[in-house]
Amino acid sequence: MSSQTDSDVTLIGLGLMGRALAGALLKVGHQITVWNRTSAKAEDLVAQGARLADSVNIAVNASPVTITCVSDYKSLQQAFAPVADELDGRLLVNLTSGDSAQAREMARWTEQRGAYYLDGAIMAVPPTIGTDEAVILLSGSKTAFKTHQSTLAALGTATYLGEDHGLSALYDVAGLSMMWGVLNAWLHGVALLGTAGVDASTYTPFAVQMAQGTVGWLAGYADQVDSGTYPPDDATLATHAGGMAHLIEESERLAVNADLPRLFKALVDQAITAGQAGHSYPVLIEQFTQESRTS
Ligand SMILES: NC(=O)c1ccc[n+]([C@@H]2O[C@H](COP(=O)([O-])OP(=O)(O)OC[C@H]3O[C@@H](n4cnc5c(N)ncnc54)[C@H](OP(=O)(O)O)[C@@H]3O)[C@@H](O)[C@H]2O)c1
Repeated sequence: MSSQTDSDVTLIGLGLMGRALAGALLKVGHQITVWNRTSAKAEDLVAQGARLADSVNIAVNASPVTITCVSDYKSLQQAFAPVADELDGRLLVNLTSGDSAQAREMARWTEQRGAYYLDGAIMAVPPTIGTDEAVILLSGSKTAFKTHQSTLAALGTATYLGEDHGLSALYDVAGLSMMWGVLNAWLHGVALLGTAGVDASTYTPFAVQMAQGTVGWLAGYADQVDSGTYPPDDATLATHAGGMAHLIEESERLAVNADLPRLFKALVDQAITAGQAGHSYPVLIEQFTQESRTS
């Protein structure tokens, strides 16, 4: 292979996402080397100027930065099994989805081989890669992030979270919890209104207004959680419990699934049993920071 430059990038894994990442790098002029278990998936990229490496070792050796994007950590371990000294002094950016423990373990493995490591989570679908819409969460070596920030910015909005390699995976799942929380609450409301013949499109502007209003409380509530003080400036937990009981009763009466409000109320009841009836809603963090009482 010809001599490498600081902006050269190796891409391991050419599935739907890997091909999108490689395409975005090629588009802004990076020389890229690619490797994929099934080499035929590299054909289009090679036609656009990518070099296809015969082995993962040759691929890693070809660039100062290697980006990996395979199905999961098991696949990553299988792909990297032959890699030994090739990573020394280089940066590995792993965009394979996984959990925080896997990210931290991969960081140890990489650092034992003398390499820098950034763990990433892609909060986007392949067609948006290379645009600002594609948020790429990254955590790990700050020095490596700063050095290669412009390369990473070619993939989307590269967002650095901190030195702990597990952070990107944790932000990823926390974001999903937020997403499903909102979606499930919206669907429960759609089901309630549906009993009165109100369709989803008619109900949804009100749902959006409620969701936006609630989001507006979060910064102030975060201050309460961070300070560990929960003054009931708006409503007490006891007041919330009364509203939840009403929501459960209404759902049951209308033969609408009441599992979601029952879960809300179970958490609030635990806090009330713990003597927190007079506190504000964010005191429930003390329930969320414990293991589940039921599974
Ligand atoms: N697609 C999305 O919308 C999206 C969004 C966010 C995050 N992600 C994450 O991005 C990663 C890749 O997703 P994808 O959509 O590109 O999946 P995909 O299209 O199924 O591609 C999977 C890739 O992993 C490779 N692979 C699987 N097992 C392997 C093994 N044992 N050894 C070597 N390579 C192996 C495949 O190689 P072969 O071609 O040889 O099978 C292929 O390159 C996943 O972690 C996914 O969660 C995807």
